[in-house]
Amino acid sequence: MPPPESYELRRGKYSKLDAPADDDTPTRQSFDSNASSYEDLDEFDPLNYDAGTLKQKRSTGDLRARRKASFKDAEFAEKRGIQRRSRFTPGKLCCSLVLLFVAATVLLLSAGGIWAWKSAPQDGQSPPWYPSPKGGTDPAWAESYKKAAELVKQMTLVEKVNITTGTGWSMQMCVGNTGPVPRLKFPALCLQDGPLGLRFADNSTAFPAGITVGATWNKDLMYQRGRAHGKEARGKGIHVLLGPAMGPLGRMPAGGRNWEGFGSDPVLQGIAAAQTIKGIQEEGVIATAKHYVLNEQEHFRQAWEWATPNAISSNIDDRTLHEVYAWPFADSVRAGVASIMCSYNQVNNSYACQNSKLMNGVLKDELGFQGFVQSDWLAQRSGVASALAGLDMTMPGDGIKWADGKSLWGAQLTKAVLNGSVPVDRVDDMVTRIVAAWYQLGQDDTKTWPLQPPDGDGGPNFSSWTNEEIGLLHPGSTDKSTGVVNKFVNVQEDHGKIARRVAAEGTVLVKNIDNLLPLDRNGWKEEDKAGKDMKYRVGIFGEDARLNEDGINDCKDRGCNIGTLASGWGSGAVEFPYLIEPLAALRSAFSNESVYVTDYPENKLPKDKQILEDQDVCIVFANADAGEGFMKWGGIRGDRNDLFLQKDSDKLVQDVAKGCGKGKGDVIVVIHTVGPVILENWIDMPSVKAVLIAHLPGQESGNALADIMFGDVNPSGRLPYTIAKKEKDYGPGGKILYLPNSLVPQQNFTEGLYIDYRHFDKKDIAPRYEFGFGLSYTTFHLSSLLISPRQPKTPLPAARPSGLEPPSYPTDIPDPKSALFPPGFKKLEKYIYPYISSTDGIKKSKVQASQLLSPLSPAGGAQGGNPDLYTTVLTVSAVVTNIGTVDGDAVIQLYVSFPSDYKDPETGTPVDFPVRVLRGFEKLSIPAQQQGPIPGVKGSEHGGGMNRKNVQFEVTRKDLSYWDSVRGNWIMPTTGEFEIGVGFSSRNLPLTGRW
Ligand code: BGC
Ligand code: BGC
Repeated sequence: MPPPESYELRRGKYSKLDAPADDDTPTRQSFDSNASSYEDLDEFDPLNYDAGTLKQKRSTGDLRARRKASFKDAEFAEKRGIQRRSRFTPGKLCCSLVLLFVAATVLLLSAGGIWAWKSAPQDGQSPPWYPSPKGGTDPAWAESYKKAAELVKQMTLVEKVNITTGTGWSMQMCVGNTGPVPRLKFPALCLQDGPLGLRFADNSTAFPAGITVGATWNKDLMYQRGRAHGKEARGKGIHVLLGPAMGPLGRMPAGGRNWEGFGSDPVLQGIAAAQTIKGIQEEGVIATAKHYVLNEQEHFRQAWEWATPNAISSNIDDRTLHEVYAWPFADSVRAGVASIMCSYNQVNNSYACQNSKLMNGVLKDELGFQGFVQSDWLAQRSGVASALAGLDMTMPGDGIKWADGKSLWGAQLTKAVLNGSVPVDRVDDMVTRIVAAWYQLGQDDTKTWPLQPPDGDGGPNFSSWTNEEIGLLHPGSTDKSTGVVNKFVNVQEDHGKIARRVAAEGTVLVKNIDNLLPLDRNGWKEEDKAGKDMKYRVGIFGEDARLNEDGINDCKDRGCNIGTLASGWGSGAVEFPYLIEPLAALRSAFSNESVYVTDYPENKLPKDKQILEDQDVCIVFANADAGEGFMKWGGIRGDRNDLFLQKDSDKLVQDVAKGCGKGKGDVIVVIHTVGPVILENWIDMPSVKAVLIAHLPGQESGNALADIMFGDVNPSGRLPYTIAKKEKDYGPGGKILYLPNSLVPQQNFTEGLYIDYRHFDKKDIAPRYEFGFGLSYTTFHLSSLLISPRQPKTPLPAARPSGLEPPSYPTDIPDPKSALFPPGFKKLEKYIYPYISSTDGIKKSKVQASQLLSPLSPAGGAQGGNPDLYTTVLTVSAVVTNIGTVDGDAVIQLYVSFPSDYKDPETGTPVDFPVRVLRGFEKLSIPAQQQGPIPGVKGSEHGGGMNRKNVQFEVTRKDLSYWDSVRGNWIMPTTGEFEIGVGFSSRNLPLTGRW
């Protein structure tokens, strides 16, 4: 049948976004192409799709039938993919990468290979899951859904569509803005980045990045940072905060955006994300768990951004998806997250934002997600297919090209409903989800969220597009109307304190020979003083010690590595309100009277080495930066090119280590970094006595560093990833795909569960510093492991509970005339509206809705999945004692090893498990042993036990289960024994027990 009208394509030339620039200029990746190969994007008619063998009764139960059913059946998206690919016209592209790739392809073809075609992805690699589950099934959201249903009931089709569709890039004040329903006082929503602060905003805090937060292993601090972040967002009128990020998870250590998340382990990511979400949402702001899912690298993340006509496909098996990459999203949903952002990339050759298995199946059915799914900015690649697959909101609203104003939804969604392509109840569900999220966070309270103009002065009080008070109201359009756009509301409060604590606690001390650290502000320590009559001489080296001389916010979106590194770059970066320079902070901390500080904050040392020779201690700064793939700097296009320190810092450290104090000086290395760096070029040099990995500290950089270096804060950061001796040690899966390997770049996650420490453990590779490792200025001792079972071992969780009945509305298709532009309506150019211009050709299509009724997952039933998965099965406790001389924070980690030689009892198939997996952690402040009785403290006369604390863990059913893709459920092994390890890192587990 001919494509329904709603699929009509708006063709246009791809416009060049930016002039090509030198490698050193931060730019949006630019490319030039006339090759619009999207002609057919909406041609495929999902309603005509034959669900074939998949017609089956919806039931909660064994999924085997469904799995066997037909993986050959293409998901709608796959079909599109194939059609698009066949129209790929490489000759018109001018990106060097692609030219190279095309040339290579031609060469291979001419060599007789059919490689290029063979390498084209298979159809139907992602199973279909339809229809989209409706929100409103969870009691925790019941009130909000009730209110939402009341409101949505009164909405017209165009009003509904207005809420689902962004108004277009930079059409209003925020990076994402939806249309309002003024008649019912439902506001335009403001969506703003990002995970470490408020992007493009003034007078707000530049918090430490996610990776620094992960390195604190401090749940309370994670929560507090989230809360402060949420409060600042509310103060600026932001409804939806675009964070936290938990994908990329960190499969590839060089991944450009790993620093936005919390570290390379699902449990660490999941806990940190949940704590952050609770904090943000307790302030009434909708948090966004992003990017769902498998956007593990920047190269090829988006169609066209890297000149390839389609985004990379991350190809993964069901078990790995569940046990690793979807895990933190499950924790986020369980924490009540109200929005999730689907990612740019494809998963199993179906775009994440139109992948029904991921959105309808995993997210909405199995994980019971009650909020709304929004697309990453331009990650939506189809209209109808994305709607049916579970997308609820398109951002920023534009179509397949940046800022084109030609939405795949907006009027197109209105038409698709009018002609029956998108069922009315799907749009109703989209809107109900969004409105329910708004109620769930209390955003209907007009005291906290004043009504928007003309009824009040609510809404965002800042502009993402200018720093002036008065500015354009719709900068993305040709419209010239202006108004007050920046009110410069200061929302910082005392959040700098939280930022400083996170930065200090996220600093990991990995080496400290002879207790060189902490330093003494007065120079020589008591024990070294004898015979030293000169001042203590400190030399500070490295560009990373100082600020960027052109200004702390000189590079857009922090897209350069100049001066001290306190943030990665891209949409996850913010403007610094101030940035405490490490050099200045250290300099002012030392006493002038007894210490002489010299600095040379450059990476190239002067010829005359005296500046090095005249020191007792040398502090050398080095760094490694990365960021989002729409910018590049210094030859780095998002993902790092290697894991070494950047800007010749390895050589700098070596030179300082050789020359400091004529070989007698002590060297402290301070590293600011987005992730793991290879330290082998100098780590074993004898003068390198102390090394601090200070991650990305945010605005309080220098202060936090001084806190650690002078011992005001005892280091308690632990590595949220493994530091290898060489990049290869991370395994083949740890390597970024820098060049396309197929017309649609393919990345196979064949290493499965074995990323980061799981890979090192499996292959028995010694890392330099293992996951979870970090030193303290004191010493902790662990004893008295107690494992107490609370439940018997049983293979399956309890049956899925049935949920509430979601709201329902009349499903009649409205009269098309009701969707026409109101007479005399003044349109802004490129602004995205829900109205249609004409009713010509809109007739209800004859095809029936898809027959597919995917069975409900037995692993579902509540937010985060079947509630029984979160039943405590074991409690584990131990005693931690501070046996050193200073107070400190201990991070106690719990790892689980699954039974060895385990075979699935039903199938007899051996199931492979990682050597051990992190399942919990606790951070405890423990004072040092008291020397004498503390007045007034009972028991302290005996040493008191004050320096001892009990640590307790609750291990859940999910923690002790694996995902069985045949049964589609979490299975707990009931034969063999689990090993529970409690200790200080993934390779230092002094206590182990069996169950
Ligand atoms: C990023 C998202 C971000 C969005 C809005 C995208 O390019 O991937 O993380 O939230 O832009 O700026
Ligand atoms: C925007 C980002 C967005 C990116 C997408 C940039 O120009 O500032 O918000 O994430 O484009 O490619």
